[in-house]
Amino acid sequence: MTNRYEHDVLVIGSGAAGLSLALHLPDHYRVALLTKGELNEGSTYWAQGGMAAVLHNRDTVDSHVQDTLAAGAGLCHRDAVEFTVSNSRRCVEWLVDQGVDFDLREDIPDQEFHLTMEGGHSHRRIIHAADRTGRAISEVLSERALARGNVDIFTRRTAVDLVVRDGVCRGAYILDQQSGHVELFSAGAVVLATGGASKAYLYTSNPDGASGDGIAMAWRAGCRVSNLEFNQFHPTCLYHPRAKSFLITEAIRGEGGRLLLPDGSRFMDAFDERGELAPRDVVARAIDHEMKRLGLDCVFLDISHQPREFLTAHFPTIMSRCADFGIDIAAEPIPVVPAAHYTCGGIVVDRHSRTDVEGLYAVGEASCTGLHGANRMASNSLLECLVYAESAAAHIAAHHAGGVTPATAPAWDESQVTDSDEDVVISHNWDELRRFMWDYVGIVRTNKRLQRAQHRVQLLQAEIAEYYGNYKVSNDLLELRNLAMVAELMIRCAISRRESRGLHYTLDYPDTLDQASDTVLTPDNSPR
Ligand code: FAD
Ligand code: SIN
Repeated sequence: MTNRYEHDVLVIGSGAAGLSLALHLPDHYRVALLTKGELNEGSTYWAQGGMAAVLHNRDTVDSHVQDTLAAGAGLCHRDAVEFTVSNSRRCVEWLVDQGVDFDLREDIPDQEFHLTMEGGHSHRRIIHAADRTGRAISEVLSERALARGNVDIFTRRTAVDLVVRDGVCRGAYILDQQSGHVELFSAGAVVLATGGASKAYLYTSNPDGASGDGIAMAWRAGCRVSNLEFNQFHPTCLYHPRAKSFLITEAIRGEGGRLLLPDGSRFMDAFDERGELAPRDVVARAIDHEMKRLGLDCVFLDISHQPREFLTAHFPTIMSRCADFGIDIAAEPIPVVPAAHYTCGGIVVDRHSRTDVEGLYAVGEASCTGLHGANRMASNSLLECLVYAESAAAHIAAHHAGGVTPATAPAWDESQVTDSDEDVVISHNWDELRRFMWDYVGIVRTNKRLQRAQHRVQLLQAEIAEYYGNYKVSNDLLELRNLAMVAELMIRCAISRRESRGLHYTLDYPDTLDQASDTVLTPDNSPR
């Protein structure tokens, strides 16, 4: 017998987006908050640099807006940028009220925030908690959610698919990883806060769950997706055989860190007058170019000119992680390589985070609000999570009076499927996918590489469909199915863009067109 749960609002995801949305909902709403792992396991927890906000007395909303538009290479939606930036100070105040301890300046007595600098920003604008800002936010919001009587938290639950009846989203099928059974969660409003899809690439800064589940679920439910060709590669992840997915924050470059070739020479000035603080697409491409030109395994990031006490105070996590691998960042440069970091595109939403399906919202990295355009500016992501979570919660509170229309969906049918005895197939397919995405849909693309990738992903999808139809679902199978679907959508978007812009660079169309336009894909079952 399938378990059934009924809530006013179902929030899928416990990162900055999902947690803050749940906390913004009125107390009288019964909320279910779900996560694939434990509460603190999404990308949010690993965020290092901080959150961009207009806080400095010489900074302005207009300046932050202009920087974001410039980094986004002509594709940002100005209204989304203005909306996000003008709410930045309020979101910081809300986080402080919740209990997040951001770093304060030590050189002046009157409680001013310490602001750091990152690529593309023309001011010190990044509020942070040393180099573990995400952890500080995640832990405080999780504690708040656990303390709220109206929020039921379900860990180790994987959303499988949404339940849509008569064009309205009424809940979702959810796999309980412990029992192996699929349950039915009904709700008056459903929120996808499932993060990005950077696990589609062999090398990534993201934690394991970043498999694009929400994007794939929304697409299957009939929502449009947009701009998925813009995968952001962070220029500097630690290069070491034993270091999995460890980021070296851009704030290191903000504090004067220099990128070096093995002979100790700098190279960024030859690519952009802003040097190491050019936007990420420029820096990642420059590193990729130098690595290919010289046949290098990595380049180096040197911050050793800063005093040891400064590095210990500002970058304790990076210092200690590098020390684990025998690297003393106060004395020697850090070996770094670019890695997939952020999904700029996603589920098309409006200012209230509404998707194309009534009752279904998407917030955070899973969504495409128009803020990031063709290249997200550093530290604008946490800000977007907070701003849109608040506006989505306000919309839900105004339009869903509470109370659930019980989903008339049937219970999940497991009667025709068996246990798989070939789990190795899943891990092989997963490896294959991530490798060809890295080789063919990476920092530099061509038509031929993209067509190869498209062919491979279609073969994989056919194999996965067969597997999905015949065997019991597992977390790994669900993630693989979603990742293959999102990879296919990324490739489709990349093939349809016949220019180079922001993060999408192709040797076949190296120029940028005068007219900027979004890539929008519409599924056959779209309600539009
Ligand atoms: P996440 O925090 O990724 O949370 C996703 C949640 O969804 C998780 O709880 C996951 O378990 C759950 N989930 C996913 N699929 C399912 C499913 N099928 N069923 C149930 N639950 C599911 N941005 C900045 O602005 N500043 C920074 O300094 C910064 N540093 C970063 C450093 C690193 C190493 C990384 C990886 C990212 C960084 N980013 C930074 C980007 C930023 O952290 C993310 O974009 C942001 O945290 C995404 O938040 P989110 O709530 O959308 O998703
Ligand atoms: C970093 O700290 O470099 C990551 C910042 C971001 O992704 O916005």
